[in-house]
Amino acid sequence: MLEASHVTVSFRRRGGEPFRALDDVSIKVESGKIVGIVGESGSGKTTLVRTLCGLQKPDSGEVLFKGREIHEAMAAARSGAGLPLSMVFQDASGALDPRQTAASAVGEALRVHRMVVRVGEGDEVRRLLAAVGLPADVAGKRPTEMSGGQCQRVCIARAIAPRPALLIGDEPVSALDVSVQARILKLLAALLKGHENGLEAILLVTHDLAVVAAVCDYVYVMSGGRVVEEGVPREVFAAARHEATHRLLAAAGYN
Ligand SMILES: Nc1ncnc2c1ncn2[C@@H]1O[C@H](COP(=O)(O)OP(=O)(O)O)[C@@H](O)[C@H]1O
Ligand SMILES: [Mg+2]
Repeated sequence: MLEASHVTVSFRRRGGEPFRALDDVSIKVESGKIVGIVGESGSGKTTLVRTLCGLQKPDSGEVLFKGREIHEAMAAARSGAGLPLSMVFQDASGALDPRQTAASAVGEALRVHRMVVRVGEGDEVRRLLAAVGLPADVAGKRPTEMSGGQCQRVCIARAIAPRPALLIGDEPVSALDVSVQARILKLLAALLKGHENGLEAILLVTHDLAVVAAVCDYVYVMSGGRVVEEGVPREVFAAARHEATHRLLAAAGYN
């Protein structure tokens, strides 16, 4: 579904050599799967996500969505039929407008992406808020009146509103309490299983191996801008070869 091949991204540093944030990275996200990208801070995860979304132009390599170059695929989708991908970030309450209620935030996402809603916008907003497990009374609340987990659920509802085939989360649960993390991860898995709003796959970016172990079907381990290991999480973690993987295992309490 989404395929990045031999992607290299360099940043110019003042007075220094160009710095390679991504070095020949290739990953694949297949339909029906939750794919994890794990790596320590600074390993290039966010740069990879930005490249996958078409926000960062690679020096070399390409990103294809269903066989089409990602910029083209995003541009072609702007008719309201459904986006190739959409994103959820770490800072859920910061991503929401403090003056907006949950319902107006989700309604705005529908309008911005010109989603044609047969049932009417109000009904669609209620349906989306229910789909992310929010009780009806949250609809009228503003970010300061909601918990971190509720804010992230609103962000997820906003992200799936434009009917993305792929949902990309960049550290989507890192700012939440561990028990809340588990619930949000379960929600993401359930949204995919139910093909909610046409969802076909999830890419989960995290520095936390426990997150990957909980829900991912496949994992790529990044270090220093490269993919250093990949495979089924249980197998990768049981037979970790790279020192970065060992450090991540130790940090997550595996030994
Ligand atoms: N716009 C930029 N300009 C210069 N350096 C950058 C830029 N964005 C990221 N970097 C550098 O690239 C490396 C990877 O960053 P990032 O992709 O954010 O890693 P991660 O998300 O894994 O923490 C870091 O060393 C970071 O300082
Ligand atoms: Mg990052």
